[in-house]
Amino acid sequence: MNIIKSIRQMWRWTDGQRGRGARIGFVPTMGALHEGHCSLMREARKRSDAVVVSIFVNPTQFGPNEDFAQYPRDAKGDAALCRRENVDALFMPTADAIYPKGHDTKILVGRIGEVLEGAFRPGHFSGVATVVAKLFQMVRPDIALFGQKDYQQTIVIKQLVRDLNFPVRIVACPTVRENEGLAMSSRNRYLSVEERNASRVLFKALQKGRERIQRGERDAAAVRDAMALLIQEQPLARIEYVAIVHPDTLKEVVRIEGQVVLLLAVWIGQTRLIDNLWAKPD
Ligand code: PAJ
Repeated sequence: MNIIKSIRQMWRWTDGQRGRGARIGFVPTMGALHEGHCSLMREARKRSDAVVVSIFVNPTQFGPNEDFAQYPRDAKGDAALCRRENVDALFMPTADAIYPKGHDTKILVGRIGEVLEGAFRPGHFSGVATVVAKLFQMVRPDIALFGQKDYQQTIVIKQLVRDLNFPVRIVACPTVRENEGLAMSSRNRYLSVEERNASRVLFKALQKGRERIQRGERDAAAVRDAMALLIQEQPLARIEYVAIVHPDTLKEVVRIEGQVVLLLAVWIGQTRLIDNLWAKPD
């Protein structure tokens, strides 16, 4: 596995791969890798000839009171995991390489990045879109893989690629969960045993919402209330939002007639968790 630190080196590697006709599959991450990330690497392997993983904890997508400083970092463990997954190149740029002194351009995302996560984390998706656009220029992938776990992020990236004409195909991959249903996340490392147990309530609430919809409930407010009620029974949990939206527009649905996505953000103690689930009437 090639460990690549500089942008120039990354370009050279990509040129080499392109020269031999390889299709490049790219998995951008912030490290502290887990099975969710691995599933993206495996899908990349299936769909391309050369797999690149990037690890960069991107400061511009964290708010001033968020967990940038504490975000888990494990370069050694991550590199070992990538090696096990047969990754061809691991790109680990420094913050100075990505944001050199004087860097002064950012991507402004539209409405799709201002709702839900965007409403509670202003500027978050601008930071995500900017770094992903920059990484696309460095890696120049044919396909890039993202997890449904961060549902809105995947939609924002698809919009970015459409609007700015990036020659890359975005592939969305299903959420990988722990046995008890908790969606895997680097931030799960923050949870105590007690909090980890309490965190199950996110998936339980999503399942409850889906069940209601399948059983014929069409009133989105009633489904949201049922989900919220379940979460409120968990003393360690504090809801930030519970939403039922159209899968493409992310607009809130009033009457559930077709496919929707249930999304939630919940604090468990000091840790903010998000999750989502598809649902549609039977
Ligand atoms: P990170 O949180 O490290 O996630 C990297 C990729 O892994 C994202 O596409 C995310 O959706 C996916 N992922 C995370 N948990 C998953 C799970 N349980 N199942 C399936 N996929 C999962 O998302 C980011 O980093 C950053 O915002 C990034 C796109 C790298 C830009 O900085």
